[in-house]
Amino acid sequence: MAPVTRLFDETEIARRVDKLAREIAAALSGDFIVVGLLKGSFVFVADLIRALDRNGLTPRVEFIRLSSYGHARESSGEVRLIGDVPADIAGRQALLVDDIADTGRSLAFARTLLEGRGAARVWTCALIDKPSRREIEFSADFIGFTIDDVFVVGYGIDYAEDYRHLPYIGVID
Ligand code: IMP
Ligand code: MG
Repeated sequence: MAPVTRLFDETEIARRVDKLAREIAAALSGDFIVVGLLKGSFVFVADLIRALDRNGLTPRVEFIRLSSYGHARESSGEVRLIGDVPADIAGRQALLVDDIADTGRSLAFARTLLEGRGAARVWTCALIDKPSRREIEFSADFIGFTIDDVFVVGYGIDYAEDYRHLPYIGVID
């Protein structure tokens, strides 16, 4: 595996996730469902829902799986849903959570999908935003870190399925 240069350590991530939860708690009221995009968001979602709990929120949690990357670093430009949209979305608020907003296609696609299933309102959250990589117009409602066009791994984020286990976020080249 290629060497990893640390970008955000565990403490920095924890602090940012807590602050994000406070921002979310200030904006969302009432019931909502956190919908994580697999696999990249699983570590982030696990930390975020507990931070939301500390802020008095009681979200349900679901996951959906999209496919676009395969094992390449570049998005194929086409996003597909693998499996089903969770039941119970109709009439509810959803907070869509992904690891990274890159071209913007995954979160935009998932938002349209949930809206199509009758979600009352769909909010979007990305731990990492790479605005310089956008291929469609998209901006997430909640963003952890904004970074340049570098390839990151760790904290659930992979390169060809490796590195997800790292407790920190780092850059590989
Ligand atoms: P988008 O649909 O182009 O916005 O891509 C979002 C998805 O691409 C993320 O959920 C990641 O799975 C993947 N991705 C984008 N940038 C990176 C990166 O730097 N490292 C690992 N995966 C990435
Ligand atoms: Mg992903």
